[in-house]
Amino acid sequence: MKNMTVNEIRESFLKFFEGKDHLRLPSFPLVPKNDKSLLLINAGMAPLKPYFTGLQTPPSKRVVDCQKCIRTGDIENVGKTSRHGTFFEMLGNFSFGDYFKGEIIPWAWEYITEVLEIPKDRLYVTIHLNDDEANEIWTSKTDVNPNRIFRLGADNFWEIGVGPCGPSSEIHFDRNPELGEIKTAEEFVEASDNDRVIEFWNLVFTQFDKDEEGNYNKIEHTNIDTGMGLERISTIMQGVDNIFEVDTMMAIINEVCKKANKKYKENANTDVSIRIITDHVRSVTFMIGDGVLPSNEGRGYVLRRLLRRAARHGRLLGIEGIFLSELCDVVIDSCKSEYKELVEKADYIKKVIKLEEERFSETIDSGMEILKSYIDELEENKETTLKGEKVFKLYDTYGFPMELTKEILEEKNLNLDIDGFNTEMKNQRERARNARGDSNYMGNDDGVINKIDKDIEIEFTGYTSLIEDSKAMILIKDEEFVSKLEKGDKGIIVTLKTPFYAEMGGQVGDKGIICNEKFKAEVYDCKKNAGGKTLHFVNVVEGSVSIDDEFKLSVDETRRNRICKNHTATHMLHEALREVLGDHVNQSGSYVDDERLRFDFTHFSAVTEEELKKVENILNEEIMKVYNVCTDVMTLEEAKNSGAVALFDDKYADDVRVVSVGSFSKELCGGTHIKNSGEIGLFKILSESGVAAGTRRIEATTGEKSVEYIENKNELLKEVSSALKCTEKDLLSKVQGLLQELKDKDKEIQEFKNKLTSGLEDELLSLVKEVNGIKTIVTSVKDVDSNSLRNLCDKLRDKLQSGVVVLGSANGEKVQLVAMATKDVTNKGIHCGKIIKEVALIAGGGGGGRPDMAQAGGKLPEKLEEAMNKGREVIETLVK
Ligand code: SER
Repeated sequence: MKNMTVNEIRESFLKFFEGKDHLRLPSFPLVPKNDKSLLLINAGMAPLKPYFTGLQTPPSKRVVDCQKCIRTGDIENVGKTSRHGTFFEMLGNFSFGDYFKGEIIPWAWEYITEVLEIPKDRLYVTIHLNDDEANEIWTSKTDVNPNRIFRLGADNFWEIGVGPCGPSSEIHFDRNPELGEIKTAEEFVEASDNDRVIEFWNLVFTQFDKDEEGNYNKIEHTNIDTGMGLERISTIMQGVDNIFEVDTMMAIINEVCKKANKKYKENANTDVSIRIITDHVRSVTFMIGDGVLPSNEGRGYVLRRLLRRAARHGRLLGIEGIFLSELCDVVIDSCKSEYKELVEKADYIKKVIKLEEERFSETIDSGMEILKSYIDELEENKETTLKGEKVFKLYDTYGFPMELTKEILEEKNLNLDIDGFNTEMKNQRERARNARGDSNYMGNDDGVINKIDKDIEIEFTGYTSLIEDSKAMILIKDEEFVSKLEKGDKGIIVTLKTPFYAEMGGQVGDKGIICNEKFKAEVYDCKKNAGGKTLHFVNVVEGSVSIDDEFKLSVDETRRNRICKNHTATHMLHEALREVLGDHVNQSGSYVDDERLRFDFTHFSAVTEEELKKVENILNEEIMKVYNVCTDVMTLEEAKNSGAVALFDDKYADDVRVVSVGSFSKELCGGTHIKNSGEIGLFKILSESGVAAGTRRIEATTGEKSVEYIENKNELLKEVSSALKCTEKDLLSKVQGLLQELKDKDKEIQEFKNKLTSGLEDELLSLVKEVNGIKTIVTSVKDVDSNSLRNLCDKLRDKLQSGVVVLGSANGEKVQLVAMATKDVTNKGIHCGKIIKEVALIAGGGGGGRPDMAQAGGKLPEKLEEAMNKGREVIETLVK
């Protein structure tokens, strides 16, 4: 067996199949394209599904690659077992309707026995129960020992969710040959269960496409899909028994140990944390490298979970503060030969990790305290399940992913109420949805539209013309192919040629008209199906159209023109932002329609007013340079070499379009653009805001809309100055003067009020009456609110020095009552609580209080005087 590093093994595999006429592809990004069944790429074949099913034509019928994959299904086992990791690389070679079992079996054998030089007496092979053909090939075309081929059932049929699948043949390595030859399928299964043999290469004979209903639909041609876990084959080649001990992983482990000041393999618990961090930091680095950002949804949430879980294990190891971003370097270093993009994006990746770590570190300690108190409470009450609301509180306020809380509870043999948590989550989502007023995508995206024949070639002529003659090739209505659409119908028209741009790359679809003498349809949207076929969504407003009818397609020119202005401006904005903020600015999303443009980009703090002004100025200056906007078609390689900006989600097309705005901006883009920057006229930024950690959003307008924006502001200025009766020039000083005037008036009013109440005080003091030697004031006052009434009462009591004051005031529909007494008179029998209780009763309310102070409200203003009389009465009885 050869001694090879992980990087050498990867390269040898790719080379081997290149030698068998395979096209070597770089790994596809971890974020799936056009695949709603999948959050993250989880197998080598996942991004290739449309090539197997025939929905898309592959760049070659033979392909080899090493695919980045993420699987989080077994996350709780990561670190605890020798095999589980969330991130792994899968080596694979693929045939799309080209070679089949007869080729792959001998090739696989050749690669492992001749290139990797794995001894034949360490190898076993399994095939599907009924696969005589595979058996025949293994025995006749390779020199595998026929006694070492076992037939198994479900284990040798490969499928993952829906999609391409089929019977398979697996190759296994025997780690303990000294235990003797494995003789039967039963013995083999046992050896596999106890890890004596490990499977390392899966050859799938892909023949079926499994649908949502669970039907296995035969694919027209036979295919090959093989998968070999790079980490796993590396453990075999390097003679270690744990994926964490292969060279590239050890490099990360060592770095973690350094940071934690711990030794690997000294303490089992510590080792688990070290391995969790090692695995998760790899996943996190690659995910961010492919454009995923932490969030509370979808793959962003997966990223957040992994990152926060790793951060917590860092705390368990005693690592203080931020550390994950620093581990990135060894991750990137360990695999930079294959993943050059990670080197390019290193700074960016580190910034995103750091930001998320910092965010979490602000709350992790207080969150842990709270969780600890919850745990104590559970244990005290001899309960075992943490309530859903509490789990949600930790999630919502302290950023603890539910899974993290679960894991910490499980360490104490406790669990949590997932249903309760989910209910809380659902409620929150509903609140958010109601607030946003979301609407749904038009519904039929998964149905009939994806059954359109993938061999149909549709020509898009809309880069250069907005009118085209074509005919109805396919008509769709109510999720069915139909032969005719009639007035009043809502449906879809597919044509051989179209000038309509279908929504893509952030640019909305065109609107317009399809018509002939007999019919007219309004195109209200235009999108592509999964196979890239353009669909015109229409309302038929006149006549009818049948298959093969000829007609004219006309794009709404004004609207398209405005879209083009916004799209070109988006490119220019991207460039200007890079100039002002730095090269870390990358587009993370965009939306361009005829009203405005929205541009999301990576940046780590709010863009200041000053920076925004600069960006806007740069754009307007460049616009005025009346640059020609040119599109060149070239290979991706050429495009990158020419310095064109490529986005995260670039796909591997043979030819790409590069759009240049003079010498100012150059970007890969499939969208439509204006001919000259001057057409933009005026660029205005409307707003800047944050959309997620590390992502900012700018909204802006161009052309007519910018003019409209300025005009509206002008109009407003005019209206304001006419209301203020001054010229626009004097507006500012006028407003400043008015504000000062208001302030002076406020002051005056306050002084006036003070005078009024002090006058009132003197007036009331003249009402003092002695009852059995106790000074009393019992009276109603006009229109005083409860606060002022209390203050007044307070002051009167102080002025009396000894005595009792009872005040009532009617304020609209309500009555306020308050009584206060000095200490000495309460000793003589005065009790404010008792007085107020009876007084309030009459005024239609209730209340009470202490001997020296009480207050209440009532609802009968007309009874106020009567109530006051009652007060006098009560005082008399109290002091008798
Ligand atoms: N699709 C198979 C797997 O993931 C082989 O590539 O194992």
